[in-house]
Amino acid sequence: MKKRYALAVCVLGVASVVAVSAFMSGSANVAKAEEKAPAAKPSKAAVERSRKSVQTLDNIFKQTIVLVTDKYVHDEDDFAAGSAAVLLFKNISESGDNKVRLIDATGEPYDDENVAKDDFEREGLKRLKAGDQLYEQVVSKDGKHQLRTLTAVPVVMKKCVMCHEHYGDAKKGEPIGAISYTVPIE
Ligand code: HEC
Repeated sequence: MKKRYALAVCVLGVASVVAVSAFMSGSANVAKAEEKAPAAKPSKAAVERSRKSVQTLDNIFKQTIVLVTDKYVHDEDDFAAGSAAVLLFKNISESGDNKVRLIDATGEPYDDENVAKDDFEREGLKRLKAGDQLYEQVVSKDGKHQLRTLTAVPVVMKKCVMCHEHYGDAKKGEPIGAISYTVPIE
């Protein structure tokens, strides 16, 4: 009896080791899948949250550029809203996860730095010039997702032409520039 009992315990013991190791390797697979998860597509809800953030930022920036130009810029020597925007965007981009740039869409930028710098921005400018108000793309880098967006900047007021003479040639509503955003999708 004792022998049989010992055998049963032994068999059970082996079985449980097998079961536990199967379970462990199962959970190891789960852990691996979780590690990989960030590289998969981001959820629609997360993309929508980032899209809303871009809309909010875009509205604030454009309202600010118009307000500054309207109230503070009176002649060509004043500190232009364009210069303010370029400086503000640089500081924002260097101090956090949101990257913003003001770029030219006319081929005649004030500053050579303010031009499309990669395929996304070049393609986006084409789309905006063809009439789209917005161009966006979800990109994944190092397992993290970002929403890239380009929004159109038209000649919003006559004063813009004071410094950017060639804006006078732009058709109504035609974009002369764009704001380029890269924001995290979380
Ligand atoms: C007082 C002169 C002045 C006025 C008025 C002005 N800008 Fe500018 N703008 C500039 C300068 C200077 C830069 C370059 C800023 C820099 O790179 O630091 C610039 C840059 C830009 C850029 C980036 C591309 C480029 O040409 O370098 C855009 C787009 C732009 N301005 C749009 C506008 C719009 C739209 C208005 C009207 C709301 C406007 N600007 C009014 C002087 C002006």
